[in-house]
Amino acid sequence: MSRHVVSTEVNGRAYEREVESRQLLSDFLRHELGLTGTHVGCEHGVCGACTVLLDGAPVRSCLLFAVQSDGRKLATVEGLAPSVDELHPVQTAFRDAHALQCGFCTAGILMTMVPFLENNQNPTEAEVRAALSGNLCRCTGYQHIVDAVLLAAERMRSASA
Ligand code: FES
Ligand code: FES
Repeated sequence: MSRHVVSTEVNGRAYEREVESRQLLSDFLRHELGLTGTHVGCEHGVCGACTVLLDGAPVRSCLLFAVQSDGRKLATVEGLAPSVDELHPVQTAFRDAHALQCGFCTAGILMTMVPFLENNQNPTEAEVRAALSGNLCRCTGYQHIVDAVLLAAERMRSASA
């Protein structure tokens, strides 16, 4: 199998690795870079657990090859918190609204909701539910996740007012 050098930036840090052409981006992040915060559930684009940002847009890392990240910028859940002492406002809202149980889906949901809230600072509940529709959670029944996203939006609006 042919191999390729991939140069990419993840959470602001540059990485260069030689990978097999068919290595999935999700496996690259987890196995090559040790960024295991990105979870892999279905491995075929259905559950959303593996969502990361590619040049700022949410993508399913199980549907991309590592080589497709060459020369581009990735963001994973490990890069969300601004420091070890401070969480991202969406993470804080998830904690405060009890929006996770096992947590398997959480990283993918956070990486979907952060760009959603950047583009829509005052979403309705229906808009939040629509934005969450590609992320499966087997534990929570979604209500607390919706509450957390609305709480995060409210806090982020207050902080920027
Ligand atoms: S693991 Fe990628 S969408 Fe489910
Ligand atoms: S909290 Fe368990 S799958 Fe969502």
